[in-house]
Amino acid sequence: MRIAVAGATGHIGALTVSALEGRGHDAVRIGRSLGVDLLTGEGLDDALRGVAAVVDATNASAMDREEAVAYFGTMTRNLLAAEQRAGVRNHVLLSIVGLDRVEGNAHYAGKREQQRLVADGPVPWTIVPTTQFHDFAAMVTSRTEKDGAATIAPLLVQPIAPQDVADILAEVAEGGPQGRYPDVAGPEPQDLVDMARRTNEVRGHAVRLVPTWSGLFGPSMAGNAMLPRDGARIAPTSFEEWLEAGAP
Ligand SMILES: NC(=O)c1ccc[n+]([C@@H]2O[C@H](COP(=O)([O-])OP(=O)(O)OC[C@H]3O[C@@H](n4cnc5c(N)ncnc54)[C@H](OP(=O)(O)O)[C@@H]3O)[C@@H](O)[C@H]2O)c1
Repeated sequence: MRIAVAGATGHIGALTVSALEGRGHDAVRIGRSLGVDLLTGEGLDDALRGVAAVVDATNASAMDREEAVAYFGTMTRNLLAAEQRAGVRNHVLLSIVGLDRVEGNAHYAGKREQQRLVADGPVPWTIVPTTQFHDFAAMVTSRTEKDGAATIAPLLVQPIAPQDVADILAEVAEGGPQGRYPDVAGPEPQDLVDMARRTNEVRGHAVRLVPTWSGLFGPSMAGNAMLPRDGARIAPTSFEEWLEAGAP
């Protein structure tokens, strides 16, 4: 099949392209650095010619709530309109477990807008909500680190390997549209502060961690808010296995 990946130069997008190619598909790569801009629509119709399914693994860097909703909203509208013109039969959106339970997070507001547009949109769809990736804790501390210290919330998460996310997106894209897919998570719950400490240790990065609910994430993400719901699909690779592989 000819399957496009929006966000193909990104972390999960690049792994998804490889996963699709490994399964024998023709993967079309979409990203601004590849000459296709979802905000303006530039290059999009050409990229989607003959495409049967699209995986949306785009991202928006740190912004306020209004900007995040506008950024994800505009990209999604342009992508869905071009998919409709091209006759795409499955729009697969990578989303986040627990989005509806969390208030006050700008990125999540943008992702909710993306989900709303997909579910109400003109193209048959599958929304795949996953938990945080194994590298999430270190990504958080790299954003908050200052003068050798980094703030991080003591979130309870059930993280998943980036490669497992990509493999599942490739599998879903080659099937028909399924609507809302079950939550997808890794095998075990973890404490985000402990994940950050262990990841930075494996990567040889020294940083003092300061647990707090007053940084990037607030108390609406505490308790079980970020954990997968009953009936979740559990991916195989544990956080420990990922660390043993060098925390790639
Ligand atoms: N991190 C987590 O733990 C986690 C958990 C669950 C779900 N997610 C979701 O996973 C998704 C992907 O995350 P990621 O970390 O893989 O993203 P990433 O590495 O930041 O990659 C983002 C991709 O989006 C593309 N992009 C951004 N703006 C674009 C535009 N205007 N037009 C075309 N392409 C554009 C970028 O390409 P160019 O720069 O070339 O345009 C890049 O390929 C996000 O939506 C995130 O919410 C993340």
